[in-house]
Amino acid sequence: MKTIKLLSAIFIFAIAFTSCTFDDKEIDPAVEAFNNADQANGGILYDKFWAEESDFDQANPVKATVNAKADFFRCKQCHGWDGLGNKGAYINRAPKTSRPNISGLNLFEMGQTKSAQELFDDLSKTSGRRSIATDLSTYDPATNNTEGDKMPNLTELLTDAQIWDLVKFMKEGMMDVRELYDATYTGTYPTGSMAISNVGKNGNATNGKNYYNSNCASCHGATGTTLVLEGMTAGKFTRTKANEVQHKVHYGQLGSSMKGAFSITTAQMKDLYKALANETDFPN
Ligand code: HEC
Ligand code: HEC
Repeated sequence: MKTIKLLSAIFIFAIAFTSCTFDDKEIDPAVEAFNNADQANGGILYDKFWAEESDFDQANPVKATVNAKADFFRCKQCHGWDGLGNKGAYINRAPKTSRPNISGLNLFEMGQTKSAQELFDDLSKTSGRRSIATDLSTYDPATNNTEGDKMPNLTELLTDAQIWDLVKFMKEGMMDVRELYDATYTGTYPTGSMAISNVGKNGNATNGKNYYNSNCASCHGATGTTLVLEGMTAGKFTRTKANEVQHKVHYGQLGSSMKGAFSITTAQMKDLYKALANETDFPN
């Protein structure tokens, strides 16, 4: 018996030891870069990569150029807060001289199906991408849109670490809006429409109200009416722009005192939505 115990102890030790050294030697730089990536920064970059809340170098001379034509550079503008592009909430966000067409890709699904390395490679592509040198002052959706509608060349704008942060956001930070509300999309871009219903779905309104009281009420008031949000209360804003609120709550309202609840889960968001869906508690 003793010998068997001793042998098995040696055996277990040997396995632990070899797998350990194996891991140390074979550590994949891409895995390490992904593990070290900052999902919160990724979500902020997705909104506006040059925002002061992000780790973008505020002294970078490119900042003035991108800020002057912001909608041609913000990921959210071309891909949507929901990541569903022109098949999601932006189904009717037509281009203007000041903003490009919405992409037809489903970025949310891409984040779920592609590997981190594949996403990093996609984001780092340079061919078929628009250079920062492109003159966007002549953009016209009817006659001159080819370059303006292109995905920007991110290698001219972001560091590898920032691109990894975006990958992490795409894989782990982008919420599946189908879990938060029902949406019916009618017609096609840019003349389609969206109707939101069942906000919060089967979430728990009591938990959501508690979450609201602890994390939101100090600024927005007990019933969400203290701050005026594009002419709306917090309740109405959520019921109207359910596609957008989840990102703002998760990553903050950039440029304001509202910081992101970076670790909020989809289940907590669903509960919060369920509470805010109630028009008696959170009036219009
Ligand atoms: C001006 C609009 C625009 C902006 C801004 C933009 N994209 Fe894109 N993006 C596109 C278009 C159009 C495509 C499809 C082009 C293609 O597949 O090469 C695309 C493709 C992608 C792809 C798939 C790439 C591939 O090779 O399959 C990813 C991932 C992506 N964008 C993420 C982002 C992120 C993250 C940002 C912000 C840093 C961003 N995009 C900013 C328009 C834009
Ligand atoms: C520290 C104060 C503060 C806290 C805490 C806070 N907010 Fe805000 N929130 C703001 C301010 C300020 C704005 C910007 C108002 C403006 O644009 O004038 C804002 C904006 C918003 C918007 C509108 C976003 C937009 O796109 O215009 C929503 C929705 C919102 N908050 C919901 C919430 C919810 C839900 C919580 C809790 C999870 C929360 N806020 C926590 C201060 C706060």
